[in-house]
Amino acid sequence: MRTPIIAGNWKMHKNVGEALETARQLEESVQGSPVEVVICAPFTSLSALNALGLSKVRLGAQNMYFADQGAFTGEISAAMLLDVGCEYVILGHSERRAIFKEDDELINKKVIQALKMGLKPILCVGETLEERRAGQTEDVVISQTTKGLAGVGADELPKVVIAYEPVWAIGTGETCDAADANQVIGKIRETIAELYTPELAQKVRIQYGGSVKPSNITEIMEQSEIDGALVGGASLNAEDFVAIVKY
Ligand code: PGA
Repeated sequence: MRTPIIAGNWKMHKNVGEALETARQLEESVQGSPVEVVICAPFTSLSALNALGLSKVRLGAQNMYFADQGAFTGEISAAMLLDVGCEYVILGHSERRAIFKEDDELINKKVIQALKMGLKPILCVGETLEERRAGQTEDVVISQTTKGLAGVGADELPKVVIAYEPVWAIGTGETCDAADANQVIGKIRETIAELYTPELAQKVRIQYGGSVKPSNITEIMEQSEIDGALVGGASLNAEDFVAIVKY
């Protein structure tokens, strides 16, 4: 049995005070939930969130650089994230791919470094609307999964979480049909089974992301292959995020 994992991706929202307030509300309301709950906050709030000493809610970052340290102005290392209590790091989010031109090779270096340092990567994959219309959805997720996981050892694989996020469903209010998402996620699992073994593929948690909200989470979580959600907009409001966690 895979433990469900629901992560909030706050993106570039919330100052420290707002982050603390939302985290406190969340921590109180999700106690006892069987779901693993993660908030991926902006870098600036992580240290203060860590100082809250949250027991149920875990901390994640939204990005990192692959080098140990050095002259990389503006970047953040895995060690820095561990130092402020992060357990997870989102890597290869579609906004990083599209706006900041991150490619599979760079994302893979980050995945390797995160695992080497003891952080659990949430590796995002997903097709654009153009690719979906051209019938390339499966090819895209197979390729991104394969390249993202290159060099990841079998012993490290269960620490990786994959997030299937169709780019056209992110922040648009348009959700991918749950059965459709289940099928693509099944394809991702099949890919992992081919790269490793079917047994190992069963251990990897794969989330759905893209306009997840309280009204559609139940149907999403009912799907056999979907192990959780990566939630953007709806994770900013504690009440909505709690409702999602308690699907
Ligand atoms: P959304 O974002 O829930 O606002 O669509 C999801 C994401 O980008 O991870």
